[in-house]
Amino acid sequence: MKQKLQDLKQQFAAEKASIKTPADLEVVENKYLGRKAGLLTNIMKGIKDVAKEEVAEVGTLANETKNYIMSGLEEIKNSLGGGSVHFDFTVPGNKPPIGHLHLATIAMREIEGILEPLGFTRTRHHDVEWDYYAFETLNMPGDHPARDDWETFFIDEAPIKMNLPEKSLKLVKEGRRVLTPHTSSIQVREMEKGVLPIRMMNISKCYRRQIDVSHVPMFHQFEGLVIDKGINITHLKGTVEYFVKKFFGEDRTIRLRPHHFQFTEPSFEIDISCGLCHGTGKLEDGTSCRMCKEGWLELAGAGMVHPNVLKAGGIDPEKYSGFAFGWGVERCYSMKSGLNIDDLRLLYKNDLRFNEQF
Ligand code: PHE
Repeated sequence: MKQKLQDLKQQFAAEKASIKTPADLEVVENKYLGRKAGLLTNIMKGIKDVAKEEVAEVGTLANETKNYIMSGLEEIKNSLGGGSVHFDFTVPGNKPPIGHLHLATIAMREIEGILEPLGFTRTRHHDVEWDYYAFETLNMPGDHPARDDWETFFIDEAPIKMNLPEKSLKLVKEGRRVLTPHTSSIQVREMEKGVLPIRMMNISKCYRRQIDVSHVPMFHQFEGLVIDKGINITHLKGTVEYFVKKFFGEDRTIRLRPHHFQFTEPSFEIDISCGLCHGTGKLEDGTSCRMCKEGWLELAGAGMVHPNVLKAGGIDPEKYSGFAFGWGVERCYSMKSGLNIDDLRLLYKNDLRFNEQF
């Protein structure tokens, strides 16, 4: 029997090399260790005939042979990749990926955080607005050509008129519905609340029929409106300058450029000094800056609230004055030092490869 066990060991050692797949492995395992007809099992059936003095020795040898075959099989199992996997319960699990806020939301929160300590309160209004508030009360009556600048989406009114007969009078006054084309639409709504002074900000979605590298049909603007006694341009300038330094950095400066808006008088465009060439218009190697026009970047519209707008909101322009400014959130954010997003449309493509960078 000792001899048989030794032969079996050798037979297995020779056969081991022929195992190439998990299926081969199973066959060989059964052949040697199978409970009913395995070669080792068969040999072990002869133990009853072994002389008493030899039983212990044969038993040890039988165990050795079994272990030899088993560890040989285990080794092959591991090398085939289907072996028992060592599982360490103490290793921390893989965390599910956690997303983060969208760039526009990050920017809006930052803007809100800068303006709030100055006393601006954030107000919320609907994205769908009346023509009356988007244009009419902002000194752009009926067919005023200035309206064209806002590339507005108008909404078909007929079914709503039919369903709300009691409101039809108001509808005549307010005109058609629009997707709010700028945050200024809420200026008169805020004045109609009848509480003075006003110091509010509106950060919300705007819609325009435009799409190219620097425009998306849905974007965000933020607007500040202050109305009180004795408000003048210095307040506007101080506020904007404060914002620019906080948002873009202490080294940035602003300039006001005369402009025209129907709802402010005087009106300005606000430029900020370029972060790339530091307002010089020239890069270190002497070439002209590719980011800006002669050191300045166009940022925003602003101005002193037009008397007609104050009147539309029931405020006496002889007693009160105010300023307003309104900028694109995405545009503003993409101008932030170090960030140069050359196609604004990327922001709303929902491409994780882009979004994850921020
Ligand atoms: N609403 C203007 C725009 O959309 C910006 C603006 C806001 C201008 C407030 C003056 C005052 O371009």
